[in-house]
Amino acid sequence: MKNEFLDLQKKRRTIYALGRDVSQSPEELVPFLESVIKEAPSAFNSQSTRAVFAFGKYQDKVWDIVADNLKKVMGSDEAFEKNTKAKIDGFKGAFGTILWFTDMDVVHGLEEQFPSYKDNFYDWSEQAQGNAQYSVWTALAENGIGANLQHYNPLIDEDIAKEFDIPKSWRLRAEMDFGSIEAPAGDKEFMEDSQRFRVFK
Ligand SMILES: Cc1cc2nc3c(=O)[nH]c(=O)nc-3n(C[C@H](O)[C@H](O)[C@H](O)COP(=O)(O)O)c2cc1C
Repeated sequence: MKNEFLDLQKKRRTIYALGRDVSQSPEELVPFLESVIKEAPSAFNSQSTRAVFAFGKYQDKVWDIVADNLKKVMGSDEAFEKNTKAKIDGFKGAFGTILWFTDMDVVHGLEEQFPSYKDNFYDWSEQAQGNAQYSVWTALAENGIGANLQHYNPLIDEDIAKEFDIPKSWRLRAEMDFGSIEAPAGDKEFMEDSQRFRVFK
């Protein structure tokens, strides 16, 4: 039994301590990650997932938008400084961020085209997101680059759309920051296999 894939899976972890000491350039990384996203499966091969890659000042801008919106909902700069600033600074200190979107025009188009499957298409677009996000996360890990997955949408949707000129039909689903691994992930706990799997043979 080959288990290279399992080894790769184990390499992919949530890494919060990320830096900018990445040997690959954006010019190398982006075409690679685009190919990884293109190879990830989607229902009816609908290719509903969209990705925006932010580096440098654009990386800073993503996390400034998150910080500004959090400050607004938290009501005071003090509350933000005390509870949240260090965390957001950590995400901002990463090498880059992938903004993950679903093109709702694709989802609605399929709902109209195949009415009998109508209730499934949004769920399937989310599953396609999972396939693409997981593939990229693992492909980054294969190349020694750590990542974590955040969800400040829908709080930041409007400002992100304005800053990055995002089409109206693109719905923000996640933010994945990635960079050099400055500290490893902790141990991971697993629930009992017996509660999780059933085999009939
Ligand atoms: C769909 C999904 C949503 C997640 N959302 C967040 C999130 O909003 N913030 C966060 O810090 N981690 C998030 N995570 C990371 C999980 O907490 C993490 O994958 C899990 O604890 C297992 O750890 P591992 O990634 O190191 O294997 C998310 C993971 C998945 C798959």
